[in-house]
Formats: sequence, C-alpha cells, structure tokens
Amino acid sequence: MAGSENVPIIWILGGPGSGKGTQCAKIVEKFGFSHFSTGDLLRAEVAAGTDKGKELSEIMKRGDLVPNEEVLDLLLKAMKEAKGSKGFLVDGYPREKSQGVAFEKSIAPVDLIISLECRPETMVSRILKRASESVEKRADDNEATIKNRIETFIKNTDEILSQYPTQTKRVDGERDVDLIFCEVSQAISDVIANKS
Ligand code: AP5
Repeated sequence: MAGSENVPIIWILGGPGSGKGTQCAKIVEKFGFSHFSTGDLLRAEVAAGTDKGKELSEIMKRGDLVPNEEVLDLLLKAMKEAKGSKGFLVDGYPREKSQGVAFEKSIAPVDLIISLECRPETMVSRILKRASESVEKRADDNEATIKNRIETFIKNTDEILSQYPTQTKRVDGERDVDLIFCEVSQAISDVIANKS
C-alpha cells in the first residue's frame, strides 16, 4: 500500500480479553500510531444497520470468524484513509493463516507481531468483568460465545505465528498492564530504530 513502506506495521494478537485493546490504547498514546481494530470496524458496520451488517452480526454473536474478504475490505479502506500515519497498529488481525498472507499481499509486510499470551480462565474472567461493568453490552460477551472465541483463537494461532518466527514477540499477558506495556513498548522502539 502506497505510503506504508517506511512506517512500522504491527499486528497485535491475543485471545479475547488478553488485553489487545488495552495495550493498543497505550501504544497510540506513546507512539502516535493509527489503530485499526478489526472487531471495532466490524461492530461499526453492524451498527450502521446495513444488510451486510446484519449478516456480520449473526456471525459475531456466535463468536465465529467473519469471512476474510469482508474484514480485509474494511481494513484496507480504513488504512488508506490514515495516509501520513507514523505507524499502523492492527488489532485482532490475522485470525487465520490465510488472513496474514492476504494482508501482506495486498497491504504491506508486517514488521512486528505482539502476541499477548493468557490462560483461558484469565480471559473469561476479564471479559465477564468487563461486561458486568460496561454500559454498552457486547452481544458476544457471554460465556458460550467467549468459549467459542477462545477455541477458535487456540486452534489458529500457532499456525499463524509459525509463519513469522523473526517478527513474533511473545508477551506474558497475565501481568499488570503497565509491566506488559514496558515490554511491548521496548519491542516497538526496536522496530522504529531498525526502520530509520
Ligand atoms: P474483537 O472485538 O477483536 O474481540 P476479541 O478478540 O474477542 O477481544 P476483546 O475485544 O474482547 O478483548 P481484548 O483482547 O481487546 O481485551 P481488552 O483490552 O478489552 O472481535 C470480536 C469478533 O469480531 C470476533 O469474535 C469475530 O467474530 C469478529 N472478528 C474480529 N476480527 C476478525 C478477523 N480478523 N477475522 C474474522 N472475524 C473477526 O481487555 C479485556 C478486559 O480485561 C478489560 O476490561 C481490561 O480492562 C482488562 N485487562 C486488560 N489487560 C489486563 C491486565 N493486564 N490485567 C488485568 N485486566 C486487564
């Protein structure tokens, strides 16, 4: 994608509730990168109430993966609109090996993959806590759907990461938010230094 050659492209992976959104907010604050959450892009499409949005809503309520052509279209459009960005932070993508391949083919190679690693019990309890505290309820934050989201994540992730051994940074996501961010932040600073 034109304009993305000299700026870092970072994927943030992790199961539901592993802290992707939490770490992304801190990365944006410190590094000024543009943040693209595929979950947020899809929820915006659902909120628009289009026919496509209705189809996506059914898939997401079950905790299944949306077809990649839908996700990649939304991502590509959003990234094109962020021309001149200092860096691209892609949250929750890829979720299958083929998504990573399609991204690198149609957008740009990835520089760094941050993989937030958490136990399923931790992920479940964080999401249920988030759901109980938040005013806006997510249709997929119930125990059955969370279980399906975690199973899908576990089934696909090793295959995705095995494609990118040199770019992958595995981070223990069980710790305090700020401790995790120290490690995440160092990995991003290293990428920036290597690119300049
Ligand atoms: P998406 O919206 O991406 O949801 P998710 O992956 O299930 O992740 P969450 O947003 O629930 O959690 P998070 O990791 O961001 O954690 P957070 O920081 O909020 O995707 C939703 C759906 O969209 C998918 O199921 C699928 O259907 C579809 N979809 C999305 N991308 C797709 C794709 N690429 N292809 C196909 N379909 C796709 O943290 C959770 C809670 O824990 C918060 O309350 C937070 O305060 C707390 N917390 C965070 N870190 C810590 C910590 N270190 N210690 C204690 N608490 C913490």
